[in-house]
Amino acid sequence: MGHLSSTDARPTVLVRGEGSRVWDQEGNEFIDALSGLFAVNVGYGRREIADAMAAQLVQMPYVSPFSFPSLPMIELSAKLAAITTTGPQSRAFLTSGGSDAVEAALKMAKALQRKRGFADRNKVIARRVSYHGTSMGALSVNGVTSIRNGFGPLVPGARHAPLPYRFRCDYCAAAAACAGTCIDEVERLIAFEGPETVAAMIMEPVQNSGGAIVSPPGYLQRMREICDHYGIVFIVDEVICGFGRVGGWFGSGEMGVQPDIITTAKGLTSGYAPLGAAIVRKEIADAFIGDEGDKFVHGVTFGGHVASCAAALANIAIIEREDLTQRSRDMGAYMQRELRLALHEHPNVGEVRGMGMFMAVELVRDRSTRGSLEGEDRLMVWLSDQLKSRGLICRADDRLEPVIQLAPPLTLPQSDADAIVAIVADVVQALGRRLGSVPRIHVVGSPAVAPQPVDVAA
Ligand SMILES: Cc1ncc(COP(=O)(O)O)c(C=O)c1O
Repeated sequence: MGHLSSTDARPTVLVRGEGSRVWDQEGNEFIDALSGLFAVNVGYGRREIADAMAAQLVQMPYVSPFSFPSLPMIELSAKLAAITTTGPQSRAFLTSGGSDAVEAALKMAKALQRKRGFADRNKVIARRVSYHGTSMGALSVNGVTSIRNGFGPLVPGARHAPLPYRFRCDYCAAAAACAGTCIDEVERLIAFEGPETVAAMIMEPVQNSGGAIVSPPGYLQRMREICDHYGIVFIVDEVICGFGRVGGWFGSGEMGVQPDIITTAKGLTSGYAPLGAAIVRKEIADAFIGDEGDKFVHGVTFGGHVASCAAALANIAIIEREDLTQRSRDMGAYMQRELRLALHEHPNVGEVRGMGMFMAVELVRDRSTRGSLEGEDRLMVWLSDQLKSRGLICRADDRLEPVIQLAPPLTLPQSDADAIVAIVADVVQALGRRLGSVPRIHVVGSPAVAPQPVDVAA
């Protein structure tokens, strides 16, 4: 804000979007390889979503979720029950966004434990470096220290387990195969805390914070078993992973796991309107139906807003009609392959990873030692500028190690996928020159996407 308030500030104000491209107020064009913020799954410029919202607003602009059901809410809940991985006859508790959904899920898990007679079950197991939102409950379970600190005292009870982060695993990064120790650590943590004090566990199938950290095969299944064994409510946070982002409607489905509660938002409306949901397994939802004393005392005025539900229905119809979940698998696999081809020999690229249209390129000082770039002066600002000046919007992030994060619309044309790979390769090349780790002129990548050599002075 300090920078923006100076008189010569020239902020980028995005004013128009079409497909996977956006334009600022000065007419500059960008490929949006972040889908806004992991949201615009069906791409920009979808008139049918806008039309569905407009028609709803003219007919009935608001219905209180505390007082009455609304038609779009009923229809959307039925649709979510049909596609969810939480099982048949699941119910959706509709919110206004992701933090809200996490908040609802955490409160529901605690309330359920009390209903079951476990008044002392109030702890929540999350993962280190995870991000689950900014409202007090969601913030408290975040595993990002710098985001949590400064707002204490937080909601008590959050505990953090290690990440399944194979590239720099605390336990087995150097080993030929994963030793599964990070899974054992989750169980040890629960044993240490006392299972009778743990209400819920919350995890993403592919963790965004840290850069598309994919739960390895069998990991989520083990978490499911651990939760079943100890009577813990298993919340899978699909705020990003849902609605085709990692292929399939939900990441839990792609990984063959049935959560107790799914939290979701973002791609639910592809960002055309604010909306979130906690989708809840029937048996859990049923515990809150009955006498007055059974109800779930929670809600927000704009939860499940009628126009947002209309947007979600139109958005889901597009995902179905255009088979965008499969497209996410296919185009994601293509992009990852091209990124690997372009970057695999570069001394400053540690790893390319991801699932579907959710990817990250981890940057290192030296690939042979996996040396960290920690301490490199203003690297994130520099990277963001480099990417943007070449016409690419994506995210440079260092909540763990530095990564370039890519999550383009699921509709991304192959030509734009190729352009993204070429720009990322070019920026990594510039990083190599900045760090002195590549020769003056050095072209990486497959000939198909190799960027032009850039003079070191440029
Ligand atoms: C995994 C995850 N959970 C929760 C949230 C919070 O969602 P919102 O920003 O809509 O409140 C986010 C936001 O990025 C997220 O990535």
